[in-house]
Amino acid sequence: MSKEIIVSGIRPTGNLHLGNYLGAVNNFIKMQYEHNCYFFIADYHSLTTHPNPIDLHKNVRQVLVEYLACGLDPEACTLYIQSDLPQVAELYMMLNMHAYMGELERVASFKEKARTQPNNVNAGLLTYPVLMAADIIIHKATKVPVGKDQEQHLEMARTFGNRFNRIYEKEIFPEPFAFNYGKELVKIPGLQGGGKMSKSDGDGNVINLNDSPEVIRKKISRAVTDLGPTEPNTPPTTPVQNLLDLMAIVSGNEKVSHYANLYANCSIRYGDMKKDLAEDLVNYLTPIREKIAAIDGDENLLKRVVQIGKEKANISAQATLIECREAIGFRGF
Ligand code: TYM
Repeated sequence: MSKEIIVSGIRPTGNLHLGNYLGAVNNFIKMQYEHNCYFFIADYHSLTTHPNPIDLHKNVRQVLVEYLACGLDPEACTLYIQSDLPQVAELYMMLNMHAYMGELERVASFKEKARTQPNNVNAGLLTYPVLMAADIIIHKATKVPVGKDQEQHLEMARTFGNRFNRIYEKEIFPEPFAFNYGKELVKIPGLQGGGKMSKSDGDGNVINLNDSPEVIRKKISRAVTDLGPTEPNTPPTTPVQNLLDLMAIVSGNEKVSHYANLYANCSIRYGDMKKDLAEDLVNYLTPIREKIAAIDGDENLLKRVVQIGKEKANISAQATLIECREAIGFRGF
């Protein structure tokens, strides 16, 4: 099998949640031993929400600790902090010159943010997909392990890379595609009955990798369901299906069939189902939570990892940037 170049990142917004883990990080763990992988903490991206400096640093540190606790191996992959690669900012600037208002305004994540936070529709939000493209193509990635929510951003990364190649008549960037080891990209549902697991809908919508067993039990007991089936053999409603989907991941298909059958014959008791799901989630996450606690105090480890990652990532980014500068016409005298 030939080695692919793989890039992926996560915005530091606090603890990683189960959606981040299942949509992205658990793929990283396997890929790092099979491919040439660059995994980073997207701290430039988080500036769109204007975090205060103390929180920003704390959140970057937290993602670093949790990446390591999940099994990212800094010897096997290149694990770095985005802002340790200023080349990304330079490539972002270059790509911005060929990114058009119309196409940026049509991006679903921008439209959603413009709707939900009308008081902070900044230029960084509009050009978010350009920065993400720079992250990916700076290492000439071909595969990007992400959840389903990032599909449109990947399409834009291909557009911006191809456009650069075409305008400057150089084949610098290959096309990157979203990828995971399953049949399709995943969307892990949240606990509030609606869309994906995401912090923007509040902490009650997510199970964090670092949540204690008590917190997990409380969140699952409060998860939205419905009033219960009234007709036999009707398909589960979305909130109940969401819980069954989580169950399929942490409990296995046998348990899902059991509760789906109870739903189908109208004898399901959501309290029982939730208790079962909560215990399986606790068991699933306990090893990670314990590793987070073990790594958390190890300042020397964190320092070393960040330094090694910065050095490795800079080599690859610098090589690409030299090509881009030359292609554009920034040439030495
Ligand atoms: P972010 O920080 O929102 O999420 C990080 C990763 O977790 C995945 N994810 C999910 N997957 C399935 N179900 C969910 N409910 C769920 N919630 C989150 C995301 O798909 C993502 O893979 N723009 C990116 C960060 C980024 C990036 C990049 C990713 C910046 N540059 C370059 C890849 C390559 C973001 O905001 O993801």
